[in-house]
Amino acid sequence: MKALILAGGKGTRLRPITYTSSKQLVPVANKPILFYGLEAVRDAGITDVGIVVGDTADEIKKAVGDGSKLGIKVTYVHQKAPLGLAHAVKVARDFIKNDPFVMYLGDNLLKHGVGSFVSDFTKGGYDAQILLAQVSNPSEFGVAELDGERVIALEEKPKHPKSNYALVGVYLFTDKIFEAIENIKPSGRGELEITDAIQYLIDRDFVVNSTIVEGWWKDTGKLEDILDANHIILRELTTVLASTPDAETEVHGQVELARNVTVERSVLRGPCIIGEGARIVDSYIGPFTAIGPNTEIVGSEVENSIILEDCRIINIGSRIGSSLMGRNVTVRRSEKPPKSYSFMVGDNSDIVVT
Ligand code: G1P
Repeated sequence: MKALILAGGKGTRLRPITYTSSKQLVPVANKPILFYGLEAVRDAGITDVGIVVGDTADEIKKAVGDGSKLGIKVTYVHQKAPLGLAHAVKVARDFIKNDPFVMYLGDNLLKHGVGSFVSDFTKGGYDAQILLAQVSNPSEFGVAELDGERVIALEEKPKHPKSNYALVGVYLFTDKIFEAIENIKPSGRGELEITDAIQYLIDRDFVVNSTIVEGWWKDTGKLEDILDANHIILRELTTVLASTPDAETEVHGQVELARNVTVERSVLRGPCIIGEGARIVDSYIGPFTAIGPNTEIVGSEVENSIILEDCRIINIGSRIGSSLMGRNVTVRRSEKPPKSYSFMVGDNSDIVVT
């Protein structure tokens, strides 16, 4: 069994972060989303892992390397343009050969990993297996039409969904999927859809098994989903203090401090995680917050947010919440009049003031 992790795509729904960073490398609880997927396939006993990369190939290769740090062997597969999930599978044919494989979309997170699905698939002898989860917004996903437990049709992002069962971004395939991909045409949005390839298998009576996912599942394509994922992962945090806050700091709940973190005269209310070399002074770090390495927070309050590395948040009067800040961002109070908001922000930024 092999794994194929998809880490291409433009991440348009996460701009401006994705102008300079791959969406799969945005950290959740200070670990890139992609690593959760890589660990999930490794924990399912799969070590031969292909990663499909696009424009952000260099950055992904730098973060993952040959995979040895994670206990896997990584082969990179280049997809020249983001022409769809089925196209990504097609370009990975030389890597997959005729082996069965699990395909994992690199921006998905599943609480219980993929081990049970991999063993069901191996035992069941199916041609393909899909995972489904109930959602409140099915139009944003691939959607399954069910007859009892049997999937009779799949539709990609339908305007009028036939159920609220979304396709989770984890699929198990045999080499039958390559025949299907050869026989489908690009969709209205110009992509070779994996949904259409699976429909081809269903229409020709190949055995496509479906399993409902227990526990949470997140597709982290948008800001609120990334913050939700951060929330979910931090909920399970345990306290690890590799640095010691000063005597005037209060620590409540589950808090993880990496090495060389300075915390002075502050309140840390977990669950929250603070990366190596960060500096928190006269500040409040509230629940569900991840502060990246070497970020400095002085005289400010932050909660339910992801702040990446090398940021500076200095003397902000109101609490910062529900925010995602990229690397090397400065937010500071102006020292002298006039009292005005002053911005230097990139395209597609989103700023909310009180
Ligand atoms: C993709 C698939 C969709 C699936 C979703 C799960 O959509 O096309 O069928 O439900 O992943 O994450 P995307 O998020 O790439 O728009």
